[in-house]
Amino acid sequence: MSELNPLSEKIITEEDLKQALLSVPNPAGEGSLWSAGKVRFFEIQGSLIRLEVEGQNPALHARQKLERQIKDAIAQKLGDRPHSVEVTVYVPPAIGNSKENILPGVKHVVAVASGKGGVGKSTVAVNLAVALRTEGFAVGLVDGDIYGPSVPVMFDVEYRRPEVRRFGEKPFIIPVENYGVLMMSIGFFAGVNQAVAWRGPMASKALRQMFVDCWWGNLDFMIVDLPPGTGDIHLTLVQMLPLTGAIIVTTPQKVALLDARKAAAMFRMPAIQVPILGVVENMAWFSPSAHPEERYYLFGKGGGEELAAELNVPLLAQIPLDESLCEQSDKGMPITLNTQSPLGKIYKSLAQNLLSSINTLLPSSSN
Ligand SMILES: Nc1ncnc2c1ncn2[C@@H]1O[C@H](COP(=O)(O)OP(=O)(O)OP(=O)(O)O)[C@@H](O)[C@H]1O
Ligand SMILES: [Mg+2]
Repeated sequence: MSELNPLSEKIITEEDLKQALLSVPNPAGEGSLWSAGKVRFFEIQGSLIRLEVEGQNPALHARQKLERQIKDAIAQKLGDRPHSVEVTVYVPPAIGNSKENILPGVKHVVAVASGKGGVGKSTVAVNLAVALRTEGFAVGLVDGDIYGPSVPVMFDVEYRRPEVRRFGEKPFIIPVENYGVLMMSIGFFAGVNQAVAWRGPMASKALRQMFVDCWWGNLDFMIVDLPPGTGDIHLTLVQMLPLTGAIIVTTPQKVALLDARKAAAMFRMPAIQVPILGVVENMAWFSPSAHPEERYYLFGKGGGEELAAELNVPLLAQIPLDESLCEQSDKGMPITLNTQSPLGKIYKSLAQNLLSSINTLLPSSSN
């Protein structure tokens, strides 16, 4: 009797998942979710199942219904085997309904993404914006992290409040400016606790307002600092914005690389198709100030290069771990303002490599 529940029977297999998904109807027509090829990605890690599927109707209730059907089907298949399921439902834009350009005055909208939190996205977004400005471009920066906006602090504009002005009939929010860069963040409007309570549609609406209700004028670049992860907010943003492409920030750590791959996979999904402009490896090494020639690879070596090669995109920059970068961020003075500092030079070359990447991708675009 001791062998009633052998371990092998508790393991969740691909076949279990397939069987479950064969019983979920294809929301777009005939067959099942599985047989119609609507399952874009799945992974099973022990008892955790992660799925990305293609839905048909972008309305929240329809996506939630599909998610429910999937979870119920898996629960039925697995019976009393313990499991948890994470489902992301993507809905491709309707064919023939080309995306309205909500930022007609902006030449290039570039998203800065990671996957894993805390790898330095906001630091990269802020310093890249300043570096592009230093190169003579008109630059805007949007803090897309509505649950943890950090860009206002890094830009020393935490206590500023944007003005509202009328242009014709419509009132517009005027972005806050510092260091020659225009910026917008939910942090200007909502206390952290207020924003945290926002879900789905509220969050999407707030994000949309930062683009369509703001007076951005003509910009060469708009840099969008995305929140960590690859959830609904990301989807809202990448589907709403006329993105030229995305930059993936990672540290050389294995866990960060794993999440960076997921972020890259999201941009490359058929329903999204946002080009990846390159990889930035942050915290690539540490050099003690007394011995700047020495490099200590605290989080591993070569991860950024490996990821760039795997994604077949350029490695745009390797940024060392540097105490002054962190200090300057906290003071609200991006390190790149000092163009002669070693980090200032690295960020200048990041800006230049980004331009080359855009030029390769869109040879006709004049930057
Ligand atoms: N190269 C670096 N050297 C030293 N400190 C750094 C470096 N890059 C980032 N930091 C510091 O690491 C912390 C996290 O950076 P940051 O806020 O930019 O990450 P993030 O990816 O935007 O995080 P989140 O996922 O929370 O949005 C900050 O304190 C920042 O100053
Ligand atoms: Mg951030």
